[in-house]
Amino acid sequence: MNTTPQQPPLELKREDLFVSPIYRGNDTSWLTLDKECDTIIDKVKKSYKEKLQKKEIQTLPNSYHSENLWQHEKFKPFVEYIMQQMWNILNWQGYDLRNKKPLLQECWVQEFPKEGGFHDIHIHSNNHMSGFYFLQCSSKTSRPSFHDPRPGKTMTDLPTINSKKISFGSNIINYSVKPGDFIFFNSYMPHAYSHYVSEGKIIWRLKTILKIGFLHNGKLKCLQIMSGKFII
Ligand SMILES: [Fe+2]
Repeated sequence: MNTTPQQPPLELKREDLFVSPIYRGNDTSWLTLDKECDTIIDKVKKSYKEKLQKKEIQTLPNSYHSENLWQHEKFKPFVEYIMQQMWNILNWQGYDLRNKKPLLQECWVQEFPKEGGFHDIHIHSNNHMSGFYFLQCSSKTSRPSFHDPRPGKTMTDLPTINSKKISFGSNIINYSVKPGDFIFFNSYMPHAYSHYVSEGKIIWRLKTILKIGFLHNGKLKCLQIMSGKFII
């Protein structure tokens, strides 16, 4: 049975509602934080190595990550900058932020171990905006991937004509990144990092108004800014 429509298409007006924007930009001026991040993450790596030697753990973690960086004075300008960007984005999206205060929940740096790292698909719950800032990466490093946030579509999805082409049917996208790249997104966006054996490093995570995620493959280092929420 031929199921291809045989009738001429009706002229339709399309309205793109409930879209899921992702914002990208580049500002290399914050790469100066890389040195400070190294100092912080080296302590984390040392701690895990000691635990491994003492057999308190059997394997290294899927990623090394720091404590909240907003406690560090050197990260304060960066955090303020990020929070302003997040406020701008939510304002552009039409949210009423009057009488609401942005709350930074987390900001941390993360690095994958040499043996490879990964993150399964997840969202940043109890947050409004998230983001990543990439410190080290190359064409060989993993890419951040984002998944369709609509469960109804996911449950009934069809294969697309060309999976390499972004279309309304796409259910996953990923981006190549370079040092100094920012990615901002609403925290409800599912994202993931596939598992690759590599020498990569990622520095990421600030959680408050911004939360960031990416794939890792090869030498990669990124500062993840994770986001937070707005409170009354
Ligand atoms: Fe994440």
